[in-house]
Amino acid sequence: MCGIVGYVGYREAYPIIIKGLKRLEYRGYDSAGAMIYDGESLKHSKTKGKVTDLESRASAEISLNGSIGMGHTRWATHGVPNDVNSHPHFSNSGEISIIHNGIIENYEPLKKELINRGYTFTSDTDTEVLVNLIEEVQRKENLKIGKAVQVALNQVVGAYAICVFDKKYPDQMVVARLGSPLAIGIGKDEFFVASDASPFIEYTSNAIYLEDEEMAIIRKDKPVKVRKIKDDTLVDPYVQELQMNLEQIEKGGYDHFMLKEIYEQPNVIKDTYRGRLHANEGIIQMAGVEDNLEKFTNAERILIVACGTSWHAGLVAEYIFEEFTRIPVEVEYASEFRYRNPIINKGDVLIAISQSGETADTLAAIKLAKEKGAFVFGVCNVVGSSISRESHAGAYTHAGPEIGVASTKAFTTQITVLTMIALRLAKAKGTLSNSDFHRYLQELEVIPEKVADALLTNDVSKEIAAKFKDAPNCLYLGRGYNFPVALEGALKLKEISYIHAEGYPAAEMKHGPIALIDESMPVVVIAPKQGHYDKVVSNIQEIKSRNGKIIAIVTKGDIQVRGLADFVIEVPDTTEALTPLLTTIPLQLLSYHIAVMRGCNVDQPRNLAKSVTVE
Ligand code: M6R
Repeated sequence: MCGIVGYVGYREAYPIIIKGLKRLEYRGYDSAGAMIYDGESLKHSKTKGKVTDLESRASAEISLNGSIGMGHTRWATHGVPNDVNSHPHFSNSGEISIIHNGIIENYEPLKKELINRGYTFTSDTDTEVLVNLIEEVQRKENLKIGKAVQVALNQVVGAYAICVFDKKYPDQMVVARLGSPLAIGIGKDEFFVASDASPFIEYTSNAIYLEDEEMAIIRKDKPVKVRKIKDDTLVDPYVQELQMNLEQIEKGGYDHFMLKEIYEQPNVIKDTYRGRLHANEGIIQMAGVEDNLEKFTNAERILIVACGTSWHAGLVAEYIFEEFTRIPVEVEYASEFRYRNPIINKGDVLIAISQSGETADTLAAIKLAKEKGAFVFGVCNVVGSSISRESHAGAYTHAGPEIGVASTKAFTTQITVLTMIALRLAKAKGTLSNSDFHRYLQELEVIPEKVADALLTNDVSKEIAAKFKDAPNCLYLGRGYNFPVALEGALKLKEISYIHAEGYPAAEMKHGPIALIDESMPVVVIAPKQGHYDKVVSNIQEIKSRNGKIIAIVTKGDIQVRGLADFVIEVPDTTEALTPLLTTIPLQLLSYHIAVMRGCNVDQPRNLAKSVTVE
């Protein structure tokens, strides 16, 4: 995890770095630091806490004049979050500085060897070992900094995106990547380095995304040279045109990114299906699917791997794919999949779902599936991300940057993409009747308006939030398509409000969780008219007779559940398979308001980071 930013050019580096770090705080925010070279020395400041804490400290400690520098926002792996463990780290001579996102797995033997050679260490980090290894290699072999970085990286096991500056080469910065993302923004006589393109989108729309095992030397007035770390071969880098704009990554008048992103859902769902769904013509077209249609239709099974919210979208997709296409589907946590020697057959299709496209476990699961001969299809949001590049084919969700750590619009756009894929395959396989196919297309097309309608539940969600904000526990129940929504509702609540919450299939309640129910237990029941309604009503009755407090998500106009529940939130009616796109909205709002009322940091909940690029 962690976010890195670097600048080499003619402007003041410090404000660019600070602003960039704020945009990357979603990657980690337990400490922050920056280094500016002012023409004489490496001025730096670092602190436990957020980028704003760094700002208050840096003005006294750091020279603000300098047009080359780097910054880091951390999510701790080795060493607790404190000032000393914060980046940048410096070599023993004080001449070389480094920022690092990743983990050096063999840092302990390397550290021992360096200690034997007289090196000392002030932090507990693996990164301080790496910067001293670079210095040692440079000293021993009398190498320029670029070469020294390359030789050192060839001794390292692990993952990294790094930025290295050496005072002896004051016009350049060395960057490298393996397993952690690194983008180079290309301006006129200036270059930017960052974990993603958000820190530099107002300066340039051209970027190079380094591939794994590549490095580059960046000088203000020279083209970027990219090389393979292992064998030093020169690579012709692909300069990509960025699709992001500044407005997309600012809060746009909302108090939090999460709320902004919840409200963006009607528009981004439209963006997701724009150009792909033509309801009147009865057409669904997605290039990645069309080009590989036979692989999908011949598949004997589809495996879905993902983590967190993306895994929940995968579970919804399991219901949709099996219902529409009759292809068997297995959904698995990527972290489990990669470590259990799974059976993968040549004809299997593996769908990897990831908002960031950088989740380490999902990436590793893809690599494993590829080794075993599966066809890998990525469903990612971040364009050019590692998972999208590592997949054989894929479809972007086009949700725009999701900054809030709690995933919201990623979930609904993932479901939208997956529904479209399932519909396309159903058409090709003939597993849905023509009328059902057309009905689903029409329903999907109007879903954005229905999501907008579901957002009108904000006030009632807020009122209910006020009643339950102090509850220590909460249970979420749903059946069928809405069982994964129950899991997702519980995840949203726990991650941003720190209330313990569990999601269960409603029918499983009597196999254990019912023991938890008493008058102090809020139970959120997802009970739309479409899908096992009567069964869910019975479950609600079981909760009621044990005095549980029932918050029910129902279809507009529902009378039966209204008569039983303590609170109801109404969403528009839709076809059963699409209900998750609506029922999830009030759950997002409920969690959001509870977290705000509890004074929690909604966009940056404790201990979390937006993209989990470590195991
Ligand atoms: O970027 P990804 O979709 O691969 O991320 C997966 C999970 O880390 C992510 O969904 C996480 O669970 C969110 N914080 C949930 O809101």
